[in-house]
Amino acid sequence: SKPEPLRIMISGAPASGKGTQCELITKKYGLVHIAAGDLLRAEVAAGSENGKRAKECMEKGQLVPDEIVVMMVKERLFRPDSQENGWLLDGYPRSLSQAMALEDFGIRPDLFILLDVPEEILVERVVGRRLDPVTGKIYHLKYAPPETDEIAARLTQRFDDTEEKVKLRLGTHHQNVEAVLAAYEDITMKVKGDGPKEEVFAKIDSALSELEQKKISPVSTN
Ligand code: AP5
Repeated sequence: SKPEPLRIMISGAPASGKGTQCELITKKYGLVHIAAGDLLRAEVAAGSENGKRAKECMEKGQLVPDEIVVMMVKERLFRPDSQENGWLLDGYPRSLSQAMALEDFGIRPDLFILLDVPEEILVERVVGRRLDPVTGKIYHLKYAPPETDEIAARLTQRFDDTEEKVKLRLGTHHQNVEAVLAAYEDITMKVKGDGPKEEVFAKIDSALSELEQKKISPVSTN
């Protein structure tokens, strides 16, 4: 029978590189990338009632209320493609109550990755970040510049990517990170995230391929 697909969570401070690593992980492992922030930004762009409430919180760097986020993420996790191919959950859970909500649905990952990046680097990453609205690709003016002038001309910036707002987002992160970590202590892998993205990915890659191997041929105990 087919081995069970991978179920991975990735977390870390704002601009620690979650989205960047997720691009590399999904390319190699074919997991469905579910990013809480992206789901929320899509809701904001749609102009729905939930989107309006979400935007107010996001502008203050606060967590969007569980009643909006939890169902949104759950619905995406239970779709057939996620169940079939495995998933990579990015930016969720961000509080103990969000972790507990998943446990209540019987959802627990194989691995919880925490990207660890010194604070002084995070601010520089945030203010230099740009996004390509056409491909969804993440760039940085200094560390990951656009490949062509055409792409450079269409890059956009996120509304919460200012130095002032990233400090608020960091504060929220610090308030919650310990409680979330405690829920996944036995399956947490801390990864130093301040090197080049390929170097960071190499560490994640070896952990994931090991996990995948175990699912194909579980080690026998005799
Ligand atoms: P979200 O969109 O998840 O934002 P975040 O957590 O602040 O994380 P970012 O997307 O800013 O950064 P990232 O870690 O993905 O870094 P990236 O790869 O882009 O959430 C936004 C808001 O939504 C929250 O504030 C909250 O209000 C709300 N929200 C989200 N989830 C929620 C939840 N579960 N519950 C309630 N509310 C929620 O990299 C950053 C930059 O650095 C890029 O320019 C990149 O090119 C560059 N870079 C990346 N890696 C490297 C490297 N190794 N070396 C050099 N540069 C690098």
